[in-house]
Amino acid sequence: MIRFSHVSKSYGARRVLDDVSLAIPRGEFVALVGQSGAGKTTLLKAVNRLTGIDAGKVEVSGRDVMAQSPSVLRRGIGYVFQGVGLFPHMSVAENIWLVPRLIGQPEAQREARIAELLDLVALPPDVANRRPAQLSGGQAQRVGFARALAAGPSIMLMDEPFGALDPVTRGELGAAYRALHERMGLTSLLVTHDMAEALLLADRVIVLGEGSILADQPPAALIRQAGDGPAGTMIAAARGTAARLEALARGR
Ligand SMILES: Nc1ncnc2c1ncn2[C@@H]1O[C@H](COP(=O)(O)OP(=O)(O)O)[C@@H](O)[C@H]1O
Ligand SMILES: [Mg+2]
Repeated sequence: MIRFSHVSKSYGARRVLDDVSLAIPRGEFVALVGQSGAGKTTLLKAVNRLTGIDAGKVEVSGRDVMAQSPSVLRRGIGYVFQGVGLFPHMSVAENIWLVPRLIGQPEAQREARIAELLDLVALPPDVANRRPAQLSGGQAQRVGFARALAAGPSIMLMDEPFGALDPVTRGELGAAYRALHERMGLTSLLVTHDMAEALLLADRVIVLGEGSILADQPPAALIRQAGDGPAGTMIAAARGTAARLEALARGR
């Protein structure tokens, strides 16, 4: 569904992506993990052409993204990022309907479709008339997901979508999205710096470090085999927290 072949990208003298090759089959849920500056966002944005690359190729559904117009390409790709980016002067409904309007979906379907999308992300219908400032962080992020799903994409790109949320909301929204991924048969690429979140949500965890793939495994295999490199350090940190909490609960 998404294929990166020998993708490289530099900013000035700094190589941000270094010969990355990676194939993501249809229906897979992939988490892209790594420390700040590892190149996660750059790799994600190469898929919907928000970033250009210097060398290599990115294909979506077997077609080079550079051979497609960005607007047509992006119709099939939902994009969610931290902070949501809702337009503050528009209602929730107007925010959600932006892309469908742009691509000419009939206005007659507007109301029903917005209600359906809100239902999909478990928001009550009356949220449609509110402004973004009248939403909690979790509600706003749900609207961000509804907006990204509005044009019926088959791929979802998510860049730290839960990063600004409190841990409880974060867990709820993560699980809700995972269920949506299944139900809608999406192909999902989630960028996160939270290894525990990646392990718990994804089918496959890819660890990126300084522009290269350091590990690429299903969660259980990664936990068992991460070794003592950077991927192992991230796994150890996540396991260490879990173990300390367990010990604390047992009175040590
Ligand atoms: N538009 C840009 N101009 C210059 N440097 C950039 C730009 N975007 C990202 N970078 C740099 O590229 C590196 C990787 O960035 P990014 O892909 O955002 O990493 P991540 O999402 O893993 O934190 C960082 O060092 C960042 O400062
Ligand atoms: Mg980033």
